[in-house]
Amino acid sequence: MLSSTVGLVTGGCSGLGRSAALRILRSGGSVVIADLPSQSHLAEPLVEEFGSSRCRYYPTDVTKEEDVMGALDEAENGGMGVVNATVNCAGIATPSKILGKRGVHDLELFSNVIKVNTIGTFNVNRLAASRMSSLPPTSGLRGVLINTASIAAYDGQVGQCAYAASKGAIVSMTLAMARDLAPNGIRCMTIAPGLFLTPLLEGLPEKVKEELGKQVPCPNRLGDPEDFGKLVEAIITNPMLNGETIRLDGAYRMPP
Ligand SMILES: NC(=O)c1ccc[n+]([C@@H]2O[C@H](COP(=O)([O-])OP(=O)(O)OC[C@H]3O[C@@H](n4cnc5c(N)ncnc54)[C@H](O)[C@@H]3O)[C@@H](O)[C@H]2O)c1
Repeated sequence: MLSSTVGLVTGGCSGLGRSAALRILRSGGSVVIADLPSQSHLAEPLVEEFGSSRCRYYPTDVTKEEDVMGALDEAENGGMGVVNATVNCAGIATPSKILGKRGVHDLELFSNVIKVNTIGTFNVNRLAASRMSSLPPTSGLRGVLINTASIAAYDGQVGQCAYAASKGAIVSMTLAMARDLAPNGIRCMTIAPGLFLTPLLEGLPEKVKEELGKQVPCPNRLGDPEDFGKLVEAIITNPMLNGETIRLDGAYRMPP
């Protein structure tokens, strides 16, 4: 049961973030969905279903300090209390080769992927950790920070320099963050998903999705966002999980 969980789920309007938010809500917790204003209409059904005392939406760009502070305030002012779990799912994947047909990799594009994926994750965690540290501890623990990397952190494919770097940095900061925050009773974990059937892949032709699913050894299918939500729940509820990245990929290893 996650009835004492007050979650801040970034990218919570879509895909893996939405599934994590649903998991926390269905297990009795409350959630602030922090996503870009353009996605607000996707949060409305969840707010309606679970009620605004347990589910609220706050327009958030994770790279902006004032937006993240506003999302944390939304939980406190909306009566949920201080956020004690972050689930960082806001992310972008803009492919480009370092040297491609259209020339050299655009530096702005590289910076932007790092900004949203890596700096955005760090921004949310640092501000949330500051609030969490004011909470009274339960068995020495105050909260948990959950990040989303990707197996591209290990098996970067052609065109994934920026994305792989952004996710590799999230994997690398996991242990450092866990060590920094150990005296505060705050854990930090990262999930590295493989191929998941989210809006990112849903648009592909059925045949392509089928072929991609066949490449996953076991289970022989694409990941279901619910598989991700289940791991988020396991991380929140298991206090010994800390400072580690878990691959969630059915033993899939990406080819070049
Ligand atoms: N789907 C997969 O197969 C897969 C695999 C590995 C890793 N991931 C990672 O999982 C995370 C979620 O992916 P998804 O497949 O659910 O994607 P998605 O596109 O369905 O959802 C991403 C969400 O992030 C939001 N977002 C983007 N930039 C933002 C910003 N600056 N501030 C706030 N919100 C922002 C988007 O609006 C969107 O709602 C991403 O970090 C992605 O890299 C996904």
